[in-house]
Amino acid sequence: MAFDGFANVWTPVCFSKSLSATGPLHREVAGERIVLFRTPAGVGALMDACPHRGASLARGTVTAQGNLRCGMHGWVFNGAGDCLEVPWNNVSPSTRRRLAARSLPVVEAGELIWLFTGLRADAPPVIPELLCDPRPSRQHLAQLWPVHWTRVIENLLDPTHVGFVHPSTVGRGPLRQALKGSQLRMRRHEHKDGFMLSWETSDSKSEFQGLYWTPPNGWQHRVPNQSKFTAQMVWAVPVSRIETLVLFVALRPRSQRWPYRFLLNTVDRLVLHEDRRAIESQSPGPIEEAIHELNVPTDVGSLAFRDWYNKHCASSSAMMGPG
Ligand code: FES
Ligand SMILES: [Fe+2]
Repeated sequence: MAFDGFANVWTPVCFSKSLSATGPLHREVAGERIVLFRTPAGVGALMDACPHRGASLARGTVTAQGNLRCGMHGWVFNGAGDCLEVPWNNVSPSTRRRLAARSLPVVEAGELIWLFTGLRADAPPVIPELLCDPRPSRQHLAQLWPVHWTRVIENLLDPTHVGFVHPSTVGRGPLRQALKGSQLRMRRHEHKDGFMLSWETSDSKSEFQGLYWTPPNGWQHRVPNQSKFTAQMVWAVPVSRIETLVLFVALRPRSQRWPYRFLLNTVDRLVLHEDRRAIESQSPGPIEEAIHELNVPTDVGSLAFRDWYNKHCASSSAMMGPG
C-alpha cells in the first residue's frame, strides 16, 4: 500500500527546470519516496528504493543513454523500471526481467512534471490550457510549508479570509466591505474538471467569477475583466502528513512593463507568506480530523472540497508491490 490519503491521482511534483539532464531528483509525495530522471523518451519516475538492497536511486547517476545507475552496486534501470545491467553478474535476460524497479506514470507538460500516484493511470492529467500557452510570461515559485495539503486547498477556495489575512496587500477593499457589514453570497458551479466558485456582495451588483478547483489539488484564479493571459495557479502537493509543497504559477501578459510585473511578483510572495502563516496556525492539520469545526453559508467552497476529499481521497491507498 502506498500514497495513503492521496492514491491514484495525478499531481505535478516539480517544475521542469528543477530536473536537470545530468542527475536524478528525489521527491517525496504523500509519504512515498520517488526518483525522477530524464530519459531519451522524456522523464522516468521510479519508487526511490532500489529493488536490490533498497538504496536510494536518487544517489545514483544518469548514464549517457539516459538510464539510472544505482549508486550502491551499479544496477541500471530505464524509465519503465526494466533492469538493463547487473555488474559482476552474468544474468540472463529472463532473470533480469525479474529485477525491475517499480515505475510510475509520469508526463511533462506546461513546464511541470506530473506524476500518477498509482500503477496505471486510466486518463491523462488535467492540465490547464493556458499553462501550455507560450504567450504569457510566468513566475514560478516552489515553497515547502509545514501544513497538511487539504488546508491549503480550503484556504484557496475561501474568499472571505482575504480581508482579514491580507489586510495590507490584496485585502484592503474586502476588509473595508466586511467591516461595513456587506454580505457575500457564494455559488458553486460544476464543470467537467471540478468546480468553479462565483460570488456577489450586497454592496456591489457585479458578480465575480474566478476560483476554479480541479481534483485533487489544483486551483486557478481568473478575473474575467483582466487579460486572458492573466491567471494564478497553485498545486498543493502532499509531501507527508505534515508538509506540503506549494507550486505557484503566475501568468501575465508579456506586454506588462517589467517594473509592474516585478511589483506584482513581490505582492504574490507576500500574499503567499500571509496565507502560509494563517494555515500554519490551524489545528488540527488534516481536515478529516476537523470534525468539530462549525460552518456558515460562505463555506461553500471548503465544504464541497471536504465532500469530495472524504469520498475519494482521504482513505485511498495504491497497491504497488515489487517491480
Ligand atoms: S542497492 Fe541498488 S544495486 Fe544494490
Ligand atoms: Fe489568501
